Amino acid sequence: MLFPAYLMNAQERNSKEQKIAESNSIDRIKMNQFVDNLISRMTLEEKVGQMNQIPGFFAITSPVKPDSELINGIKKGQVGSMLNVIGAEPTMQLQKIAVNESRLKIPLIFGYDIIHGCKTIFPIPLGESASWDLDAIKKSARVAADEASAMGVDWTFAPMVDIARDARWGRIAEGAGEDPYYGSLVAKARVEGFQGDDFTAGNTIVACAKHYAAYGAAIGGRDYNSADMSERTLREIYLPPFHAAVTAGVGTLMTAFCSLNGLPATANDFLIRQILKGEWKFDGFIISDAGSVGELIQHGVAANQYEAAGLAANAQCDMDMGSLSYQKELVNLVKNGIVSEEIINDAVKRILKIKYRLGLFQNPYKYCKIEREKSEILTQEHLSAARDIARKSIVLLKNTNNLLPLKRNIGKIAVIGPLADAPQDMLGCWSAIGSPENVTTILQGIKKAVANQSEIFYSKGCEINSNEPENFDEAVKTAEKSDVVLLVVGEAGGMTGEAHSRTNLDIPGNQLDLIKAVKNTGKPVVVMLSNGRPLSLKWIANNVPAIIETWFLGTEAGNAIADVVFGDYNPSGKLTVSFPYTVGQEPLYYSQLPTGRPLQNDENDVWKTHYIDSPNDALFPFGFGLSYTSFEYSNLRLNRQKISKNDTLKIFVDVKNIGNREGEEVSQLYIHDLVAGASRPARELKGFKKISLKQGQKATIVFSLINDDLKYYDNKLKWMSNPGVYDIYVGGNSKDVIKTSFVLE
Ligand code: GLC
Repeated sequence: MLFPAYLMNAQERNSKEQKIAESNSIDRIKMNQFVDNLISRMTLEEKVGQMNQIPGFFAITSPVKPDSELINGIKKGQVGSMLNVIGAEPTMQLQKIAVNESRLKIPLIFGYDIIHGCKTIFPIPLGESASWDLDAIKKSARVAADEASAMGVDWTFAPMVDIARDARWGRIAEGAGEDPYYGSLVAKARVEGFQGDDFTAGNTIVACAKHYAAYGAAIGGRDYNSADMSERTLREIYLPPFHAAVTAGVGTLMTAFCSLNGLPATANDFLIRQILKGEWKFDGFIISDAGSVGELIQHGVAANQYEAAGLAANAQCDMDMGSLSYQKELVNLVKNGIVSEEIINDAVKRILKIKYRLGLFQNPYKYCKIEREKSEILTQEHLSAARDIARKSIVLLKNTNNLLPLKRNIGKIAVIGPLADAPQDMLGCWSAIGSPENVTTILQGIKKAVANQSEIFYSKGCEINSNEPENFDEAVKTAEKSDVVLLVVGEAGGMTGEAHSRTNLDIPGNQLDLIKAVKNTGKPVVVMLSNGRPLSLKWIANNVPAIIETWFLGTEAGNAIADVVFGDYNPSGKLTVSFPYTVGQEPLYYSQLPTGRPLQNDENDVWKTHYIDSPNDALFPFGFGLSYTSFEYSNLRLNRQKISKNDTLKIFVDVKNIGNREGEEVSQLYIHDLVAGASRPARELKGFKKISLKQGQKATIVFSLINDDLKYYDNKLKWMSNPGVYDIYVGGNSKDVIKTSFVLE
């Protein structure tokens, strides 16, 4: 797959590649000599040991119980890495055994799921992605790496870069949404945030792009289910964020649990050998997901652990997370000629190079710094960074009659709902070692912001997900004595993430009935959503004057939400996933093919692609988000109407802030290739700019497109661009746009 131009312009790309090459070329010579020399002294058993990762003592995410012979295994050189061990002390303890008591003294590498923060917890990645602020996203990963590296962790199993287009899939919470263009840019930002420019810096950690590949396409949105698609869909939609991560220099990848077109990703030669290590020349290493080598048996492609280990090793999956299959079977597989020692040597070389680049051979204890652990965690700088991106992640979905922002001295504010004072839920899924006691809840944030200028009343109202009838009397009374109601509803923090798919997208339990009961008091109601996936919000959208999407915003949730509610921050977030009218529309995404019978506005023509019981479109579309001000787009024009394949097309649009306060707008550029060698989506995101405009200010935004940006896989899978007419759409979301066209000659 060719280098996607949109990740970097040519000059930036060359300088980045040059930088990686230079740093590698200096280290590469020394590193290769060191690693080759070490491998030459290793026994086959010791080599296999490096390919073996064992779960540690903390929250176990894998089904495998930690090996009770763990300490002896480390001494024998049978363990290359540990997962789920965190803390300067425990990691030092285990590292000392590896370095002082094993024959070759090869240090361990410690992996942990630092997904959206370590101790200071940031918004869930789906929330962060709604900020459309790549610098803030990078900063979030930087802070996470700072804290993790102070706690003995030198490798994170992040970023999760799976494109997700089915809101039923719980892991949609962990990624950057439905679009490959934007998902690729977020992947790059997060890899750079975790890894910095220098693995040896001591406050950077190795990143891991996961789950390779197409895990987000699980059929039915049911986690761990199969994925099945054309190679074009794989290459155009699901691979680009992984390619972006590899191009950004990611040190590791992780295979997906799922099968792709019948072959489990962990044993998928096409994905790993042909694409990742062949076409993309990836020089890091790839680890299986937890237990997924052993699960090749359940997939039905291996009769036993011996065959499973052989399949995964021959597909060049370099490290086995927690299934012990490599540990038990690889030596025999090599001795029996099923797996070549060249494959083992290649895997071990990849693993040792990462350890070398981390500086672990020079100083195995560089991440086990007790004093750093005390000084680097939950600092004010980290909390400020978390609050900043949390505010930017909030999406204003509705604000009838400018009900928001509220005045602090409005009088009486009711804060109601099962997520109003829910510290653990604010952390969301995969919250590492984040603690609820460090969280500012929404109720706490509102109280702090108001500071006695108004009275605050609170009522939980109901449980998050109760199936029993509940009495809302107390909540109704609380609403009746207030001037405005902030109603905080949604999902429990643990209702998304791994193994948490849903068959419906309604707000769970009795919460909608609570909303209706509170609405019936006649008080103005602001619904604030805490959730990890798109929800179907039809009734709320039709009946409640103001709606704010707050995701799970982490440690600073309440402060960030208060900043928006009282107008200290004008919300600028935009959805990166489509919110449906109903779950029946899933999988739902903006970038759909037109079909031979595209639905026009004429609703009487039934012979068009449509449902008889729901609109086709999203209730809230990709790229959508309101502001306390408003923006007007005009004067869309091009530097030329025709371009050749060597030209750069410049697209100019005027954006004016026509409201009564400063605000930020994410202007988006979409294209539609009208006639091509394969049907092309009616909208494809190809650029965005986030700008701040003062009241009344107008700016001209400039986008550019080059021939590479127009390429796609034709019906013979040739990566090419098509001469012909292209429509261009520009606007503040994927639906409300202004249009022009150009010709590629
Ligand atoms: C899990 C997840 C993966 C995670 C790994 C280690 O099962 O699928 O995302 O990194 O185990 O915890």
